[in-house]
Amino acid sequence: SQIHKGDYLHFMEKEIFEQPKVVKDTLLYACKQENGKQLENGKPEEYATPGAKQFSSARKDPENAENPDFSYEAFSMAEKDFQDISRVRVIACGSAYHAGWVLKSVCESLARVPVQVELASEFRYNHPILENGELVLSISQSGETADTLAAVKEAKKLGAKTLSIVNVKGSAIAKESDFVFYTQAGPEIAVATTKAYSCQLVAGYIFSLLLAKAKGKISREEASNLTEELFLLPGKVQQCLSMDQEILPMAKELKDADNIFFLGRGLDWAISMEGALKLKEISYIHCESYSSGELKHGTISLIEKDSPVIGLLSQEELAGKSISNIHEVRSRGAKCFAIKTEDIAIEEEDFAGSLSVAKTHPLFAGSLLVLPLQFLAYRVSLLKGFDPDKPRNLAKSVTVE
Ligand code: G6P
Repeated sequence: SQIHKGDYLHFMEKEIFEQPKVVKDTLLYACKQENGKQLENGKPEEYATPGAKQFSSARKDPENAENPDFSYEAFSMAEKDFQDISRVRVIACGSAYHAGWVLKSVCESLARVPVQVELASEFRYNHPILENGELVLSISQSGETADTLAAVKEAKKLGAKTLSIVNVKGSAIAKESDFVFYTQAGPEIAVATTKAYSCQLVAGYIFSLLLAKAKGKISREEASNLTEELFLLPGKVQQCLSMDQEILPMAKELKDADNIFFLGRGLDWAISMEGALKLKEISYIHCESYSSGELKHGTISLIEKDSPVIGLLSQEELAGKSISNIHEVRSRGAKCFAIKTEDIAIEEEDFAGSLSVAKTHPLFAGSLLVLPLQFLAYRVSLLKGFDPDKPRNLAKSVTVE
């Protein structure tokens, strides 16, 4: 059936606005099927309409009802399969690769299982070494990206177990993998991914949480607190939708820049990679993300008067250091902007503009920070007169090497 833009100007805008729903759908998909429905071929194909029905009846009063548990089966895996994982190798391209960096941070923090993130196009030609018990986890919206598919095949040849987090049912990567988790973003039309990336983040959180549980690394109480926090995300993502307009002043200040720098540490760095990609791919402005701590090892020589720098600040324990890095670039003339969670305090006079999203568990903050970054990219592209849905030279799905 044909997909329409409805009241939206572009698919990208429509897809940004769909995020509260698809984040929620992905959370629901990951929950136990209450009726204990058997999974066909060990893969949850028929989950396509997520556990939404039984869930809505179980949650008449969302304020008080208990959140359902996430289930290993949503990954078409058993608890034992999770227990057997000794390391994780993420392979992906583009935004999915950036989602992998978020998964790494969250998984290493919660489950204490080492995660290595690799570009799918590099994996095969890097003489890959896979250890016993190393799970190869591919992430792909389309499930058809040639490099990712080839990497999955290579991993299988090397004897690894393979899990894929994909959005398109029955896609090549899903079929090739031992285990599958289907993100519930629905069809994504705009070339620059928004909602599929958001769902990939959520899938990564749930994977990490289940792995932590299977490995006995978090208490029942911690697991239920994190689950509760995850179920608050759709509402907080919804709140971020107002940034469509709030971002305009920042978009206007940035639209004529030649280079834009994104800075962050830890998870904020991971999110900044996606923010920089989003903006560069549809505005054609050169954008790069830099880990704040690396500034003094080279990047800072690029800073001159009025160089725009966007600092991402959501990690309380790192914010002090990141802010001092922002002072360093500011004292060299940079024009700094902050995109942060509301709990991080900044001196407004240090910044030419700032936007705050709601507070959540720091591990999940990226799911909120990414909204203003998507809106920024969308608005700058429009201000420059481009079609954000169809950036030049790019394809939605790259099925050649
Ligand atoms: C293309 C798209 C990107 C996407 C990447 C990986 O380059 O333009 O938005 O992140 O492919 O695609 P996949 O379908 O594997 O997630």
